Order: sequence, then C-alpha cells, then structure tokens
Amino acid sequence: MTDPTVLYERRDGVAWVTFNRPDVLNALNLQARDELWATLDAIELDPEVRVVVFRGAGERAFSAGADISEFGTAPSFDAARRARLERDLWGRIARVEKPLIAAIHGYALGAGCELALLCDLRLASEDARLGLPEVALAYIPTAGGTQTLARTIGRGRALDLILTGEPIPARQALDWGLLHWVGPRDRLYDEAEALARRLLGQPADALRLAKRALVRGLDLPLSDALRLEARLRSRRAPV
Ligand code: COA
Repeated sequence: MTDPTVLYERRDGVAWVTFNRPDVLNALNLQARDELWATLDAIELDPEVRVVVFRGAGERAFSAGADISEFGTAPSFDAARRARLERDLWGRIARVEKPLIAAIHGYALGAGCELALLCDLRLASEDARLGLPEVALAYIPTAGGTQTLARTIGRGRALDLILTGEPIPARQALDWGLLHWVGPRDRLYDEAEALARRLLGQPADALRLAKRALVRGLDLPLSDALRLEARLRSRRAPV
C-alpha cells in the first residue's frame, strides 16, 4: 500500500490537513487530489471540525503545485476535461463554509499557491515563496488562481504574478495583501493554532454566515450583495 499523500488529524475542533510528499516538495499528484477530496468529506461531514489548517510536510514546501511528472498522462484531452468537471476539487474547497487557514512554509507554487488562495487566512514563515509559474510551462493556472488572485491582491499585481510567473518572497506577499501574517518558521504552527483557537471561540453560526455573506457577496453586484447580507442577518437574533 502506498503512503498517504494527505494526512488528516483532528485536534479539539481543528482539522490539520498536511500535504505529505516531502521528497517532491508536496507536489499534488492524482492520488493527493483523490485523498484531498476524501478529506473534504471528513471536514464537511464532521460537526466537531470547526476550523481547518492546511500545511506541508518536510522542511522545504507547503506545496510546489501540480505534479509535473503527470502532465500529459491523461488518456485524452476530453477525458481530462470530463474528470475536472465531474470532480471540481477547487470549486469544492471554495464552497467549504468552515474557516480555512493556510500555514505556509517554503514553496507555495502553482496549485499550492492557489489552494492557499482558496483559504480564508494565510500565514507564512519568512522562508515562504509564493508564485504561479504555469504560464512559463505553457499552461494557465486552473486551481482557481486566475480568479482568486485578482480578487485578493487586485488586477495589476495578479497580472504581474501570473504573466511573469516569478515567485515573490513572504514579506512582499505580506505587503501585497496575499498573506496576513509572516514570522519565524518555528512560530508558524503555534500562530496557526492560536488563530484557529480565536475562531473556535467565535459563535459558530455567526462565523459561518459572515463567511457566506462575504464570499458569496463578492461575486454579486453590490445591491444583490446587500440583499444577501440582509437575508443572512435575519437568520440571527435581531440587534
Ligand atoms: N511536480 C513534481 N515534482 C516536483 C515538483 C512538481 N511540481 N516540484 C518539485 N518536484 C520534485 C523535483 O523533481 C525533485 O525531485 P527529484 O529529487 O526526484 O529530482 C524534488 O521535488 C526537489 O525539487 P528540486 O527541483 O530538486 O529542488 P530545487 O530547490 O532545485 O527547486 C523548485 C525547487 C520549486 C524551484 C523546483 O522544484 C520547481 O521549479 N518545481 C516546479 C514548480 C512548478 O512549476 N509548479 C507548478 C506546476 S503547474
């Protein structure tokens, strides 16, 4: 039996999801995407899980992105497209209503960076480097990056990162609003844990509804988004 490529551990309401292919910088191969999909079942179905932290095993990477050695190995273009439509992994992560935290060290490239962008809060150690190198490989980012990046750091900087493919260091990513916290490597997981605990201390329903209002609202015209906010407010006790 092959080793798990995604480790899942639940500790006091927090799910820790660890990409576990350190020898290849936690590149996401088909097995890892399958296991991530199954992990999402555990996250969504388990009411005891209230916050999720993603991280990478080993010293060098959160994740260096899609596994390049599998590029071009799908039986056909149509089969690859069908598989993506039938199992929309990235769209599913975007729809998780529980708060998602990315705790990033080392490389977060391609789908690794894009997965972090699908998270709500991104913490990184000073050694982190974030980038979307797909264009240089004659692809485009397809784990949501062409959409999530501009929504996170604005059109100009997103185009800079995607068109040049040049990774940026953690401090610059912090300045650009791509990260929320940068600090020493040995504090990264303590910081993630402390943040998770702060979120666990919030009223669960309000947390869920606030995330829904914000995330869904961003895709709507302002008038519709305000109506969404009003609708969600009415699910809470009047203030
Ligand atoms: N897919 C598959 N394997 C990968 C990988 C990826 N995305 N990223 C790194 N690896 C593997 C390397 O092939 C190498 O394996 P090996 O030891 O069997 O040769 C191992 O991880 C270590 O990487 P290496 O390239 O030797 O480390 P480095 O320090 O010289 O370079 C990077 C680090 C991240 C700059 C380089 O690995 C890289 O550019 N990776 C590809 C990143 C990428 O383009 N990701 C997006 C894909 S769309």
